[in-house]
Amino acid sequence: MYKIPADTLFLGKNLVILPECPSTNTLAADMSQAGKATEGTVIVTHHQTAGRGQRGNTWESGKGLNLTFSLVLHPVFLKVTDQFQLNKAIALGVHDVLKNYAEDVRVKWPNDIMIGNKKVCGILIENQLTGGKLSRSIAGIGINVNQKNFQVSTASSVSIQSGEEIDLAKMFDELMQSLEWRYLKLRSRGSEARSQELDRDYLGAMYGINEIKRFVISDSEKDAIIRGVDANGKLIVEIDNKEMAFDLKEIKYVY
Ligand code: BTN
Repeated sequence: MYKIPADTLFLGKNLVILPECPSTNTLAADMSQAGKATEGTVIVTHHQTAGRGQRGNTWESGKGLNLTFSLVLHPVFLKVTDQFQLNKAIALGVHDVLKNYAEDVRVKWPNDIMIGNKKVCGILIENQLTGGKLSRSIAGIGINVNQKNFQVSTASSVSIQSGEEIDLAKMFDELMQSLEWRYLKLRSRGSEARSQELDRDYLGAMYGINEIKRFVISDSEKDAIIRGVDANGKLIVEIDNKEMAFDLKEIKYVY
């Protein structure tokens, strides 16, 4: 049912559709390594048996109900120190599509997509670095689309949130166009303009911006106001009138 997108320049033109596979990210990396996945290759499956998430977690997704796919990209124009710009572009590419399906779609740092207070999408970007630049990125995207039951109360799906059954192939096609548009914009701009525009859009879409949220920092729970993201992709929060930046290993949301 998935089709090669008609309206993209390169993304998804090489489309690998599999009934089942362990992880589209792992397969995309293996294919790329073997020289069988040119830039823009997309691997999509109806069922992942060993889906991978951030921080070594697994990603569970009901068979045939959701979108699980990976993009092969060669962002050689990005310095290693600017790699979070790719996270922003990918998260915004998904956000821009989902906001046409539901109200209150937000990007939760670093790159979860939320509808209200529920997570509906996770993104796992795995970068290969060569000589201070990004030579290859596998951007894996898992969107809970039509699944109705979840084991964790913090997860939900676009269908639950919108009250409608969703055409997976149509949403996939919209995502290809949106992700390509964000990626080409990232590629075509100089680094200054690139980061200004992305920062503006990312901050505009950011979950909890200027709100107090509860976090675990250095093993203890603290309230902090989310203020943004720094150039290295660290989360900036304000605690006791002082701004501080933390990376993924240093801070965790308390749901
Ligand atoms: C997370 O929130 O922890 C990230 C989840 C990423 C899941 C996607 S599904 C497609 C791709 N293949 C994987 O094994 N993981 C990503």
